[in-house]
Amino acid sequence: MDSTNIINEVRSKVDIVDIISSYLPLSGKGKNYFGVCPFHDDTNPSMSVSRDKQIYKCFSCGASGNVFNFVMDYEHISFKEALAILAEKAGVELTGIHIDKKTDKYDKFYEIYDLAHKYYLNNMNSSYAKNAKEYLHNRHITEEMIKEYKIGLSLDKPDTLTKLLLSKGYDLNTLNELGISRENHDIYMNRIIFPLYDLNGRIVAFSGRRYDGIKQNKYVNTIGTKIFTKGETLYNYHLAREQIRSKNEVIVMEGFMAVIRASVSGIKNCVGLMGTAMTKEQANLITHLSKNVIVCFDGDEPGRMACLENGAILESKGCNVKVVELSDNLDPDDYILKYGTESFESLIKNAITLSDYRIKRLKRNVNLSSDLEKSNYINKVLEETSKIKDEIHREFILKGLAKEFEISYNTLEKRLLSYMDKKDEETKNIPDLEVIKKPNNIKKDKYYFATYALLYYMLVNKECLEYYDSGRINFLNEDERFLASEISYYKHKYNEVDIADFYTYLNDKEDLRKVLDKTLDLDLDKELDVKDLESYIKTLKEYQINQEIEKLKKKIKEEPDVSKQSEYLIRIAQIKKEFLKEK
Ligand code: UTP
Ligand code: MN
Repeated sequence: MDSTNIINEVRSKVDIVDIISSYLPLSGKGKNYFGVCPFHDDTNPSMSVSRDKQIYKCFSCGASGNVFNFVMDYEHISFKEALAILAEKAGVELTGIHIDKKTDKYDKFYEIYDLAHKYYLNNMNSSYAKNAKEYLHNRHITEEMIKEYKIGLSLDKPDTLTKLLLSKGYDLNTLNELGISRENHDIYMNRIIFPLYDLNGRIVAFSGRRYDGIKQNKYVNTIGTKIFTKGETLYNYHLAREQIRSKNEVIVMEGFMAVIRASVSGIKNCVGLMGTAMTKEQANLITHLSKNVIVCFDGDEPGRMACLENGAILESKGCNVKVVELSDNLDPDDYILKYGTESFESLIKNAITLSDYRIKRLKRNVNLSSDLEKSNYINKVLEETSKIKDEIHREFILKGLAKEFEISYNTLEKRLLSYMDKKDEETKNIPDLEVIKKPNNIKKDKYYFATYALLYYMLVNKECLEYYDSGRINFLNEDERFLASEISYYKHKYNEVDIADFYTYLNDKEDLRKVLDKTLDLDLDKELDVKDLESYIKTLKEYQINQEIEKLKKKIKEEPDVSKQSEYLIRIAQIKKEFLKEK
């Protein structure tokens, strides 16, 4: 069977509304559903999902596509992986189908990083690695760990890698652009090299750690490039993804060493921020993996602040956030080495909720002999408690406070309720679904309408396609012409097509998908009158003629020769006459 047929079968056997609902709440009924778009930062339900058309579209950021596009973009996975997930849900067997590996415009970049990485690995296996290995072994980074995490070494030489890559035919500009070289020197000298991966597991950067004991510039990371942005990456993402999914829990840490140590100790559902600051993009990546997040940063003050700040970001995205607090400046790597894996596992198991952590933090520095400070503290705790959804959890906190400070439970509860009322007031300001309408900011004249109507009818109407095939429809712009020829090709190859399947076909042609989006935005009926069809075609023709006339008029203005001017005038008159005759 043709792979396209199987792919379309998978698509038609799952319902986009069900699939998207499994990722985020949708509301609505019948044909159209709405939800908060996961592809940009928002709290309004600007994404609509059509059960009829089996496509989704965000009115705010423009994200759109069919069920494959959604799963690919949400999970940051390839088409093939999305297909596998959905085929399983649809109960469709995929054996024997072959999907072409699309070439990527950045293939050369990946190739260079792969070569550089091979070079670093070779160094790690050479006699040059004596000191580096000694350093690593002292830190209990074993040979197996070096292999598993593909840790390499850059040499204490100025330009070995640059020369090697130049000799293979790569140009210096590219090596500079990729942060492999600066001018004709290697960026990394005498550092232990950690490869950094993109979400699909391709090496896209390096982080080099010095091992000479000097603390300054401990790590040097590859500069941002077209294929790497540090803040859009999580260390270990591609290796941990499956574990995180199946456990439905993700542990977020700061650094490489923490993640590597935890992973080799069997705690494989962890990712690293590569620092304490969490970007919006990283927060989204985490949230999309699992809503059950445990933050476990280093046991120092920046780490504790990071728990609170990053925890709050994740909480605002609907995550259940728990905190593991380490003491004595230990990071997870140090902790596991000092107290063992079991002890660390029990910390993870006993992680406390973010609210409890906040409450715990509030108590620091409270002078318990001052009534004023005590009541301040109690008020803050109650305010925090008002955010807790679980009634039983709230009651526990109230009982604890009542006992600890000898205050009546009723007094505390009354105050708690007043905080809860206040919170209700604040959340009342969320706009109503009905209020959110499609923005209508694109200038839509009759030419625009005619163009996209014709593209739409080419998809759904046989007659319109015949008109196109016989050369009677001429689109004005290149993208529109491309889409039209793709539609024609696709329709002839697969006959009746579902618009949602056409999105699959356009998977790697983002520009054309945007044109298709505009086409579907018109929301036209399927029925088409031949009269309308002809009038759309005429409208386009009229536009072309007007443009031609404008061009001639411009030429006349610039033309010094009077006889040539009159030639142009005659041409204009002819064009007008021909057009009127056709009309
Ligand atoms: P840490 O200082 O906690 O490093 O920084 P670490 O992972 O524990 O490494 P060791 O144990 O000192 O060898 C946490 C993370 O912040 C990023 C790195 O990703 C590091 O893993 N970082 C830190 C940098 O990118 N640059 C730096 O100079 C320092
Ligand atoms: Mn460390």
